[in-house]
Amino acid sequence: MKKKRILSGAQPSGLLHIGNYFGMIRRMIDFQDSSDLFCFIANYHSLTSINNKEELEKNTFNAFSDLLALGLDHKKSTIWVQSHVPEVTELTWILSNFTSVGLMQRSTSYKDKVANGLSPNMGLFSYPVLMASDILAFQSDIVPVGKDQKQHLEMTRDIAVKFNNTHGPVFTIPEIDIDENSEIIFGIDGKKMSKSYDNTIPIFGNEEFVKSQIMNIVTDSAGLNEPKDIDTPLFNMYSLFLDKEKRNELKDRYATPGLKYMSIKNELFECIMDYFSEQRTLKQHYLDNPDDIFDLMEIGRKKAEIIASDTLSNVKKSIGMV
Ligand code: TRP
Repeated sequence: MKKKRILSGAQPSGLLHIGNYFGMIRRMIDFQDSSDLFCFIANYHSLTSINNKEELEKNTFNAFSDLLALGLDHKKSTIWVQSHVPEVTELTWILSNFTSVGLMQRSTSYKDKVANGLSPNMGLFSYPVLMASDILAFQSDIVPVGKDQKQHLEMTRDIAVKFNNTHGPVFTIPEIDIDENSEIIFGIDGKKMSKSYDNTIPIFGNEEFVKSQIMNIVTDSAGLNEPKDIDTPLFNMYSLFLDKEKRNELKDRYATPGLKYMSIKNELFECIMDYFSEQRTLKQHYLDNPDDIFDLMEIGRKKAEIIASDTLSNVKKSIGMV
C-alpha cells in the first residue's frame, strides 16, 4: 500500500525546547518510517513577525539543523526551507482567488496576533492562504498540528474544495490530525512550556543555561520530612524522560520523606544531557560545518520542488494559464 503523505511546517523561532521535542518533533521522527514525511521550515510565515535579516537567517539555519540533529533524516523524508521552493508562493496567488475575505476575517489567529501588537498588514492577513498553499502544493494526505492551527487547516480544506468544485479534482483534500491526548508540558514556572513565556528548557542551549533553568523550576515549600506532590512541574518534566517503571520509582521517592528537590534537579540535568547527548554533538557538528546544512537544504529543495512544480503545472493548466 502506498504510504500516506504527512506534511508539517514549523516557523523558525529561537531555540527549540523539550516541549517542542515531546510535543511535535518526536511524533515526526516516528512518522518517518510509517509514512512519506514532508517537513519544512516556514521562513516566509516568519516574515509576518521578524523583520531583522540576521535574526531570520540565523533562526532558519538553526531550525533546519535542529530538526536534522534531532533525528529527521533526509534519506527517509523530504526536509526543506519554504522560500527555496517558489512554486508555493506562486500557487498562493492563485489560491487567493478561491479564498473569501469573510473566511480570512474570521481568523482567530489573525485577531490574536493583531491584539498582541503585530502589524495588521496583508502578509499577516493572508497567512492562511500561504499555509493552504504549503499543504496543497504537496498533495498532503494528513497534516498533524496543534490545536492552535486547527482553524488554519479548516480554511485549507475550504479553499481546496472550492478550487476542486470549480476546476476538477486537482487537490488532495488533507485530513486534520490533532493529537488530542498529548499531555501539556509544563515550563519551569508551571505554565505551559512556551518560548513566549520564557520558561523553557532549550535542547541545544549551553550547559550552564540549561542547568540554571532547571534550578529555577518552581517547587513547593514542603518540608524535608513531608511526602511531596507529584502534580508539579519538576515531576512532570522528569517523567518525560522515564519509562513506566522508572516513573513509578520516582513516584515512590516522592511519597517517601527525605526527598530533596535539589537532588532531583541535579538528576534531571544529568538525564537531559545524557538523553540529548548525540543530538547535541551532531548540532555542534553542523554549527562548525554550516556547508553540510546548506548541502542538505539543497537536497531537500530538489525533492520538494519536483512535487510542487508538478502540482503547479496541473493547477495552471486547469485554470487557463497558457
Ligand atoms: N502556521 C504554522 C505554525 O505557526 C506553521 C506552518 C506553516 C504550517 N505552514 C504550515 C504547519 C503547513 C502545518 C502545515 O505553527
